[in-house]
Amino acid sequence: MQFPDYRPRRMRQNSSFRRMIRETRLSVDNLIMPFFAVNGKNVSEPIPSMPGQYHLSVDNIVKQAKKAKNLGIPAILLFGIPESKNPLGTRAYAKDGIVARAVAAVKNKCPDIAVITDVCLCQYIDHGHCGMVDKGIIENDASLDLLARIAISHANAGADMVAPSDMMDGRVGFIRESLDDQGFSHIPIMSYAAKYCSSFYGPFREAADSSPKFGDRRTYQMDPANAVEAIREVALDVEEGADIIMVKPALAYLDIISRVREEFDLPVAAYNVSGEYSMIKAAQKMGWVDGDRVMMETLTAIRRAGADMILTYFAMDAAAILTAP
Ligand code: PBG
Repeated sequence: MQFPDYRPRRMRQNSSFRRMIRETRLSVDNLIMPFFAVNGKNVSEPIPSMPGQYHLSVDNIVKQAKKAKNLGIPAILLFGIPESKNPLGTRAYAKDGIVARAVAAVKNKCPDIAVITDVCLCQYIDHGHCGMVDKGIIENDASLDLLARIAISHANAGADMVAPSDMMDGRVGFIRESLDDQGFSHIPIMSYAAKYCSSFYGPFREAADSSPKFGDRRTYQMDPANAVEAIREVALDVEEGADIIMVKPALAYLDIISRVREEFDLPVAAYNVSGEYSMIKAAQKMGWVDGDRVMMETLTAIRRAGADMILTYFAMDAAAILTAP
């Protein structure tokens, strides 16, 4: 069918028609809201590199979790900023660690929202890498036990799902086995399956104080130039027992989201990371873009690429728009 018989504009002429032929839906069901937990009471400290985001003490995490729940958001993701770092990252899996306490409080006061925890060492270990370091080398196999301990400590505290973000080889299988051994065979793993070594994490590293003190993350996170390798990475995590596979970042990697969606039959998550968030906030502040519209367009694009769910600092703002009467 060709012009003048077919006129695409016929189905665009009013909002009813546009709604009827809309292919991609964005719903609050697709959104996961990350929070940064810190020690203290009644702390709500703005994060300069991420306007609209805060360091929250456990009491305030509970308040925000309730707000998220009331907006219809199904899940939150918790990152912890410990009171101190050490060479073994022990505060990452301590029984009274910051994430464990935040999880327990949320599950106690707001049980109906799912709590996913970030499983990684970088915020907790003095050198800031995502694994153990020996003579300047980030050690793969020696890191697995610590990562599994973190996952188990979160599950013990009541976490509904764990999300390992470290990119060590074999960690999904190792964590799966360890969780199963400890009676947590029902706890799903959302794996950061294709996580790229991206400069879009900049604002987060300031927020989480998790920059590596030497070198960079190029020996474990993926090269942004690679797409075929992403399929191999994801396939490994699927074989090791991942329940949800994640692509991160989202916007510069929409092609990867789309390929992963086509290749695998597991739920696909995309992480709309800190740099993607802060760039929009900055442009909005400058008056260069309509921040709300760019936010909705961005989230819709990530859905259109094939993501079933989106981890995004925009979750609360987008949910407010999506659920407005
Ligand atoms: C830590 C971790 C990072 C992010 C999530 N978990 C940073 C990194 O890998 O350096 C980034 C999140 C964001 O930028 O929003 N392993």
